[in-house]
Amino acid sequence: MAPTKTHFGSSLDYISKHRSQNPSSRTIVVTGATAGIGLAITNHLLSSSSQHLVILTGRKIDVLEDLEAKNPDRVISRAGDMSDLDYVKLVLQGLHLDGRLDGLILNHGTFGSCLRIKDIEVEDWESTFRINVSSCVALIKAAVPLLRPSKGRIVFTSSGAASNAYSSWGAYGASKAAINHLAMTLKSEEPEITTVSVRPGVVDTAMQVDIREKFLQNLDEKDQKKFGSAKDDGILLPPEKPGRVIAELAIRAEKALSGQFLSWDDPKLAAYRTD
Ligand SMILES: NC(=O)c1ccc[n+]([C@@H]2O[C@H](COP(=O)([O-])OP(=O)(O)OC[C@H]3O[C@@H](n4cnc5c(N)ncnc54)[C@H](OP(=O)(O)O)[C@@H]3O)[C@@H](O)[C@H]2O)c1
Repeated sequence: MAPTKTHFGSSLDYISKHRSQNPSSRTIVVTGATAGIGLAITNHLLSSSSQHLVILTGRKIDVLEDLEAKNPDRVISRAGDMSDLDYVKLVLQGLHLDGRLDGLILNHGTFGSCLRIKDIEVEDWESTFRINVSSCVALIKAAVPLLRPSKGRIVFTSSGAASNAYSSWGAYGASKAAINHLAMTLKSEEPEITTVSVRPGVVDTAMQVDIREKFLQNLDEKDQKKFGSAKDDGILLPPEKPGRVIAELAIRAEKALSGQFLSWDDPKLAAYRTD
């Protein structure tokens, strides 16, 4: 991980002053903040009048540096690859957070190699799980001691593929099912923390470009039709729609939602929609 700053603002006591001057400000980690849904989540948090503080991850250093430059007091970026668990374990280390984190948004994700089980290399399967699941466990382990004092929130960006099987999406879908299970386990193990897993819908991001342009031939014919024409059919969601719901859940998800896997437009989440 490239050396980055270890505190918000210009001095170590900035965070306590900022919090007392902005009582509704929350301190939130967003992973996969450099594009798509994660960038929409980040923009929502940074544009709020509550003056939230954010810790951002991703591999695109230029995007992270730009977000930090535009919001010098309120952004700390920690660039790195989620497949490197030694990096992930250090994401929060050495940061001056005054003992408190309010939200952890685990949004990063890879689609993996998109191959049928008979064709996939076990190493590819394992790599998808390392990025989509094990890195989440590593970050949660680091964040729990900071989330407990604030009765904070963990929000996962999951997928409909967690509960619907598509040919060639096995590693991806199983990894998303695993994070839904993580949310259920955290509900019982960490009752002070509210954990929610969100299905964002079919969203107009680089992941859908990959499905259309790189992986379409691996899908069954009916799925090729659906995903191949989704953009032209105008059915892709702008990332801001699910992004805003995920951001608002990280700020104020109610306890009753803990452990649940919900679609971004589920009626139970109506209070978190700002569109
Ligand atoms: N788009 C959809 O239709 C859809 C549907 C269901 C679920 N999702 C989920 O939504 C989440 C966000 O995806 P998106 O659609 O917004 O796609 P995206 O635009 O490709 O964004 C993916 C984000 O994850 C980060 N990321 C990916 N691999 C990483 C790695 N190895 N290390 C560190 N960061 C990594 C990327 O950052 P860097 O490139 O900077 O590393 C990027 O910020 C994912 O969890 C995805 O599974 C998307």
